[in-house]
Amino acid sequence: MTTPKPKFHFDPYNPQFIENPYPVYHRLRSETPIFFHEGWNLWFFTTYEDISTLLGDKRLGRTMDHVLSSGDVAQKRKAAQWHKHPYFTRYVRQNFMEKEGADHARLRKLAHKVFTPVRVRGLENRIQEITDRLLDKVENRGRMDFLRDLAAPMPVSVIAEMLGAPPEMSRHLCLWSEAMTKMYEPFHTGEEEAQAEQATKEFSEFLIKLAAQRKAEPREDLISALAAVEDEGDRLTNDELISTCIFLLNAGHETLVNSAGNGMLALLRHPRQLDKLKKEPSMSKTAVEEILRYDSPLHLFKRWVLEDMEYKGRFFAKGTEFALLYASANRDPAEFENPDIFDIARKHNPHLAFGKGIHFCIGAPLARLELQITFNSVLRRLPNIRLVKAEPRRLQGFVFRGVAELSVEF
Ligand code: HEM
Repeated sequence: MTTPKPKFHFDPYNPQFIENPYPVYHRLRSETPIFFHEGWNLWFFTTYEDISTLLGDKRLGRTMDHVLSSGDVAQKRKAAQWHKHPYFTRYVRQNFMEKEGADHARLRKLAHKVFTPVRVRGLENRIQEITDRLLDKVENRGRMDFLRDLAAPMPVSVIAEMLGAPPEMSRHLCLWSEAMTKMYEPFHTGEEEAQAEQATKEFSEFLIKLAAQRKAEPREDLISALAAVEDEGDRLTNDELISTCIFLLNAGHETLVNSAGNGMLALLRHPRQLDKLKKEPSMSKTAVEEILRYDSPLHLFKRWVLEDMEYKGRFFAKGTEFALLYASANRDPAEFENPDIFDIARKHNPHLAFGKGIHFCIGAPLARLELQITFNSVLRRLPNIRLVKAEPRRLQGFVFRGVAELSVEF
């Protein structure tokens, strides 16, 4: 059986799209909700119903390696030139989000043991202190770059502390994470690949030393906890420990900076919503969910078809690749009432910004807490905050959506 391939001229690196992708997503959902992108050889899915169904479908996976022969895996990696980036391949490409089946379940269970809601709640005072310290520095200046002065250093200081890295390493952690996460865009340059490789090399060397110290003398930090975690005699290997730490930095940094930036911008562009939150800080829980839905920091995740399958009358052969547009699902009127309205009190809000199913974000409780503390602290301490430029520059990526700078006055 062959499947006709509906196409759509989809150009997510076009500056107009980067500025505001949502009108294009609306057209896609109504005209070609499932379409094929020839250049990237990808099937795109755009509706809430399809994406949320497919995220629960066991015939799909983030990798196919567990259903391929070892020879095929080696050939695939060679074709993708993994050997050119040995550090990135060893420590980033094989983190546990990139695994499926028993391997994924095992590593997720071990990581979950140290990423408990109790541990996250225990961080609340510390996150507030870090946020206050950063706001102390700018409060009398009357102006700041919300990203550079608060949204970027805050989560990286939290992760650095959780990992047990000294505070002066935060700047390096920021730069390493930025370089590594560029590789998640479908399009990246050779120079970006080289920078990602160098960043992984430096970060892994740093972590290898730190892990050895913590194994000898454990402390109250995540790296000591990960080194000690055990499940029925099972433990993380040294490589797994390093790649999990690297992944926690990557997963927990860019996403938070971008959601804080997108969220602050949305609040500043909707003064009535901002006033509501200022008057009623307990609304920060629903406000954060709305921010994540309204302008999600991650727009696309991919899945492989693990076995020949049919979906909605179409045939997809094993090895086909799907691109799921989570951010389009989050603006689907079939699921969300008035999806283009930014409403911090929205009640029905089952957004997919943290994914769904077996890869659902482990860091969601930490991310929610950090974002709630950020917005409440800013509105409490800088009540007159306003935008300097009505149209701040957007990051030129598509998978990671954020602003490149966000100047504010107060
Ligand atoms: C607002 C911030 C964040 C957003 C929007 C976000 C989003 C996501 C999404 C969409 C996934 C699933 C990917 C997929 O479906 O293929 C995911 C997975 C994951 N996230 Fe997050 N994340 C955030 C913050 C964090 C933080 C702070 C951490 C930890 C420090 C973290 C750790 C993880 C991990 C470990 C996974 C992999 C889970 C698995 O494969 O089983 N994330 N995240």
